[in-house]
Amino acid sequence: MSRSALLNAPASKDAGVFRTWAGSPAEVHLLGLEGWERAAIEVLLDRAAHYRAMLRAGRVSDALRGVAVCLAFFEDSTRTRVSFELAAHRLSAMPVPLFTQGSSMSKGETLLDTLRTVVSMRVELIVVRHGSAGAVAYLAQHLDAGVINAGDGAHEHPTQGLLDLLTLRDAWHGRFEGRRIAIVGDVAHSRVARSAMFGLRAVGASVTVAGPPTLMPAGIEALGCAVAPSVEEAMRDADAVMALRIQRERMERSLIPSTGEYARVWGVNEERVALMKPDAVVLHPGPFNRDVEITSDVVDGPRSVVLSQVENGAAVRCAVLERCARARAQLRNERLQHVAPEICA
Ligand code: MLT
Repeated sequence: MSRSALLNAPASKDAGVFRTWAGSPAEVHLLGLEGWERAAIEVLLDRAAHYRAMLRAGRVSDALRGVAVCLAFFEDSTRTRVSFELAAHRLSAMPVPLFTQGSSMSKGETLLDTLRTVVSMRVELIVVRHGSAGAVAYLAQHLDAGVINAGDGAHEHPTQGLLDLLTLRDAWHGRFEGRRIAIVGDVAHSRVARSAMFGLRAVGASVTVAGPPTLMPAGIEALGCAVAPSVEEAMRDADAVMALRIQRERMERSLIPSTGEYARVWGVNEERVALMKPDAVVLHPGPFNRDVEITSDVVDGPRSVVLSQVENGAAVRCAVLERCARARAQLRNERLQHVAPEICA
């Protein structure tokens, strides 16, 4: 069959038939950092550093010209959504935003049906944020598209994990070995903490967590981190601290007595920052609640790298979109070779 006959052919007989796509190569998706090797992480961080230089120079790349990317955000977001959208524009892709309100999901259509509809319009990549842990992996199994996790419930937030690693790699002059970060606050509901733990462990840094017992998951040590009984102990001599927001939207009832008490016992403040090494830095994934989990003087202070995290977020998302789009292009070529080898000859 010639290329033009193939392109003008009617939809195949099984178009719309329910299929699973679990056979897609792993690089087509980014679902989490669990199980990643250090080398693969470093490759992505290097690519993100390349894109950061490009963004700083105000340049635009052609890497994803013509690729449609759906940004399906079923939970609120500022940093992640805006940076994915900007990254798609900077790579000359076609970003298509989708929210619950304004889509057919508000009329009762299922998540899968809505996204299968979108994919049928030749959308290659879907960036998904969803309130349920596992929703993104489910979509990756059932959609013929690359699926990128932009945060699923309390499970993982891999692009946040990567941007945190890039920020720490800079702050730690390129060496993760022998470095330790304290992650403080609502660890139980934090997908950010989980992705950070998987990533930091893979690159050779160590993690100490601390927080109220009601916000600390049982068996957290199994993820390879130490648990400190107090914020002071976690932060003493640390090379960095990451403060976490109290994620009330993921709690069925309040798990802390009051925000005032939380700030006093678990908040990251100047006095506690002084316990860390002199060159240690302060991270927060945002959004932050000033003077609850972190004081204003620390957020705006000299040790804070929260805005570097945001800048690195845009660069990491360029690198991730590029990686998944390349893998999709390769998959498409392999399929074409299978159905019409003469076109590829
Ligand atoms: C997230 O999406 O998990 C955020 O970036 C962190 C938060 O909401 O506290």
